Formats: sequence, C-alpha cells, structure tokens
Amino acid sequence: MEMDSIEVPKFKNKVAGVQKERIYLVSKKRRREELEKAHYNLFKLSSSKVILLDFQTASGTGALSAKQHYMSSCKADPSYTSSESWNRLRKAIRLFTGKERIFPVHQGRPAEDILSEVFIEKGDRVLSNGLFDTTFANLSHKGAVCIDMPAPLSERFFRGNIDTVKLEEALRDEKAKMVLMTLLNNTEGGQPVSLANLKRTAHITKKYKALLVVDACRIAQNAHFIWRDEVGGRTSISEIIRECFSLADVSYMSLKKDGLAHGGGFIVFDNNEVSAMLSEEFEKRIREVRKEIFRKEGNADGYGGMPCEIMEQGAQGLREVVTLKHLKKRMGDTEYFQEQLKKAGAKIKNDNPPGGDAVYIDAGALLPGIPYPAKTMEIALYEEGGIRSCGIDSIMFGEATRGEILRLAIPAGVYGKEHFDYAAYVFGKFMKRKNELKGFKITYDPGELRHFDGHFAPL
Ligand code: F0G
Repeated sequence: MEMDSIEVPKFKNKVAGVQKERIYLVSKKRRREELEKAHYNLFKLSSSKVILLDFQTASGTGALSAKQHYMSSCKADPSYTSSESWNRLRKAIRLFTGKERIFPVHQGRPAEDILSEVFIEKGDRVLSNGLFDTTFANLSHKGAVCIDMPAPLSERFFRGNIDTVKLEEALRDEKAKMVLMTLLNNTEGGQPVSLANLKRTAHITKKYKALLVVDACRIAQNAHFIWRDEVGGRTSISEIIRECFSLADVSYMSLKKDGLAHGGGFIVFDNNEVSAMLSEEFEKRIREVRKEIFRKEGNADGYGGMPCEIMEQGAQGLREVVTLKHLKKRMGDTEYFQEQLKKAGAKIKNDNPPGGDAVYIDAGALLPGIPYPAKTMEIALYEEGGIRSCGIDSIMFGEATRGEILRLAIPAGVYGKEHFDYAAYVFGKFMKRKNELKGFKITYDPGELRHFDGHFAPL
C-alpha cells in the first residue's frame, strides 16, 4: 500500500525475532468517523485496529523478547502462595534494586495510592523534580500539596534534575513530608536525573528529615544517561541503578516501563534507618503498606495483583533492561526518530539529549496562539496518517502544566526504521497544513485526569 510517496508499513513486532503482527491504515474517511465517535479523545478510539502506529505510550506496550515469551507462556506458576513465578520475580528485583524488603503491586499507580495512603496526611507538602499524571493525582487525592521544582533552564544536560537550591530553601522555610524524584523525568521531556543531583537531594532530604521516594519507572534508561554522560562508562548500569535505589528511603516501580513487561510493579524499602521518622514508626508504616496490599492488590508475599505470566515477563525483563545491547538500541531508536522528526520540521522540548523512550515535541512553539496545541497536533497526526500520540499538556495537568508537549513514546522493540520514517513523513504533511488549524475546545471536562475521559471538539 502506498501513501503518496512513502510505503505504509505493514507489520510490527509482537515477539522480537519470533512473531510479527499485521497492521493496517484504515481510510481517511474512517479515521475521521473514528475521531468523531471518540469525541476527539484518542484514549477512546474504538479499536487498536484503527491505529497504524501507536506512540501513545511505551508503558506495557512493548514486544516481548523470545525468552520473556517462553517463560510467560511455558513456565508461569499460578499458585496462590509460594509461586515459583513470584520467587523468580523477587530474586530479579533483589538483584536489580539491591533491596531485601520487596512488595508486589499490579502496576505503578497502586504503589502511588498505597504510599500516599500510608505516608500522606491532608496538607502535607510533596516536592518533586516532576510528578507524572497519576502520581500527582494519587498524592493530591490524599490532600497533599504537590510542588514541582525542575532544574533551571540553563542546565543543558540532566534537565530532569530537581532544583536543589530551591529544594533546600523550601525545606528550610517550611517542613515537607516527602521529596519524590521521578527517574527519568517524564513531564520534563523525558530528561534524566544525574547521580550528583540525586545524591545532593538525598543529603538535603535527610538534613531536613523528609522522606525520599524514588519513582523508578525508567531507572535503567536514566542509569544509561548517567553511565554515558556523567560517570564516563566507569561502572556498570546495574551498579548505577543499585546506587540510585540505595539513596532512597522508599522506591516504587511500574514494571510496564523498564521492567519490559505488560503489567506489574513493586515497592521496596530501605533496609536502614530513615531520618524522616523513628525506626519503629517506619516499621509500623511498612506493616500498613503490607496490609493495604493484602486488602487492595492480593497476597503481599505472593503476587500483589500480578498474574503469574506478568511476573515471568518482569523477572526476565529486569535482567534484559540493564544490558547495554538493550539500552543502546532503545536510545538509538529514540535518537533516530527524533532526528527524522526534526528534519520534517519538529521543534523538540529539551533537545539535548533526546528523552529515553520518547520524542517530546514542543507543540506550543509550533502552533502558537491557538487553544490546546498538543491536542490539535495529536488529532492532525491521526487524521493524516493513523498515528496515535499523547499530549503532556494543559489538558493533562491543568494549571500545573509546564508546557504544551506532544509525546511520541516508542514501545520497546515494536517498531523500526520504516515506521519512524513513515511517521516523520506524516509529520511533514502536518507541518504543511498546520496554519489551517484553529485549535480545540473541551466539551466535557471531568476534572482530575480529564485527558483519559474528557470530550473535545475542533474549533
Ligand atoms: N510514574 C511515571 C513516571 C509514569 O510514567 C507512570 C505511567 C506511572 C508512574 C504509573 O505507572 O501506568 O504502571 O500505573 N506512565 C504511563 C506513560 C502510563 O504513558 O508514561 P502505571
């Protein structure tokens, strides 16, 4: 099938090197009908079959490796307790994090919910380098006042850092309960946090007796940036990851990102005393976390809401994600895609270096002066070429937004050069007609997390 002058891709990878899946570009008429039916909300499209290339998220959408596929389809153990799949996953988490106290959850957000439930009281302040949508929603839901403090714009590398000067000022002036570091920083253009910044943050946090929490969703990608741009390849990715975990009092991770699995997650606690509270108090909170998991997720010593197949995917994924072979390929894909999009006219948020698993386009700069530019671009890319992407913008964050960004996230191992070239070609078509676009309005606003559930209409 041809689309003007470029070949439309026909397949994507489902299991790396083993299984491909056919993909289709439905007609433009059908795409327009789908958009109307979905109220111009790409989370609500009727089926993945009407999407040619899906860059909405890289969370739980990757192609499995052959070993992950084998382990999850042939070796998974569904026992309710003492499951071998949980034993394998727990061992992999221990190796990955260097921690002994490990609790399972079914993905990242229940960890956010449970930690907020146990550690946050109404009015507590939480300071961060950048909270993602559900992290912000879970903390705010429990009454926390969340404040992002991204690094100053003058910093060229490690733009995911927290502003440690502001952090110390804020902690000196008023007590905060928690400092939460997102590795890497999804809301700040997928940019990494340096080891030096994390160490300094840990030092300040301890000094002022707050709890340091690490959201470790993309910690392996973050460690690759540290390995490449900060420590000059002197140590291994695994050692950097364990050092990052060792600085936090509490960490949690969605296995849907750097666990390379289709679900899953975990919480780990520091083995040592934390400065935020006395050790008996900390132990009491850990017991509360266990109870919350039993109540909401499943057996806290067994599976915590994860099906055994997912535990096998995660156990293997955590071993594969730390290899340079995997990380270089992943970063290489993002760099290539970003380059092609730039050639087609895209302006990139925090251009140097490209974010780990996604390209972040500065929609506000490309479509100045119109309402909801990221939504406008998102819809245009679907209409032009069946491409799904995701706005990280004022629809998602309301007044707390720090930009009108369109994210094209690259699911691990699914797409290759032909897909990226095609998407850049479609982007070029969007650039040619962008001056005709007038923006969007919100026709149904459900409030919090409205990007998932809201309705929109073109102006
Ligand atoms: N923290 C970060 C930094 C995230 O990016 C996400 C999810 C979560 C927590 C929640 O994890 O999905 O397993 O419940 N981010 C997705 C994304 C969905 O598209 O970036 P989850």
